[in-house]
Amino acid sequence: MTEFETHSAAQTEEVAAFLASGLRGGEVLLLSGGLGAGKTAFVRGLVRGLGGDENEVSSPTFALMNQYEARLPVYHFDLYRLSGPEEVEDLGFEEYFFSGEGVCAVEWGQVAGGLWDSLKVIRVMLAGEGEERRITVEGLHDFTDFGRLIQHGVCVRDAR
Ligand SMILES: Nc1ncnc2c1ncn2[C@@H]1O[C@H](COP(=O)(O)OP(=O)(O)OP(=O)(O)O)[C@@H](O)[C@H]1O
Ligand SMILES: [Mg+2]
Repeated sequence: MTEFETHSAAQTEEVAAFLASGLRGGEVLLLSGGLGAGKTAFVRGLVRGLGGDENEVSSPTFALMNQYEARLPVYHFDLYRLSGPEEVEDLGFEEYFFSGEGVCAVEWGQVAGGLWDSLKVIRVMLAGEGEERRITVEGLHDFTDFGRLIQHGVCVRDAR
């Protein structure tokens, strides 16, 4: 488990951009945290870190899925408005989650219930108030170097 503390949306984006450099394709990131926690901001940084256009990133609250071109394609989901796992299945989203290609970033993944149990996911949890956020990341097994972020005091704990 790795923990970060950020003091602005820009810093959260920076953490995400840094993590993006370790992605190889096939990863599913589950982003959790309440309304306004910074899940979409995190995806903005992720897309930038993958060499895509961060200005294209918007909340897929109504579209349900946005797709961005980058070093790896990014599939950005927001399951908030869906009723449960059946609807996720009806929409055919599993194909993306299980494809092993690109990067899936999923907001409100808890709506899909046990769908994630058979998948190796990266869990990103955001919490905090004002401009402060604690970002906890689990499942970064292959990732090695947080040196720069530790130096900047943004990475506060790396206990993998
Ligand atoms: N440290 C921080 N990290 C991320 N966002 C921050 C931070 N401080 C302030 N913010 C602000 O919090 C808001 C986060 O909004 P964002 O749309 O990313 O949240 P969200 O988790 O995707 O919400 P929703 O569940 O509604 O989709 C933005 O207005 C952003 O500027
Ligand atoms: Mg959002």
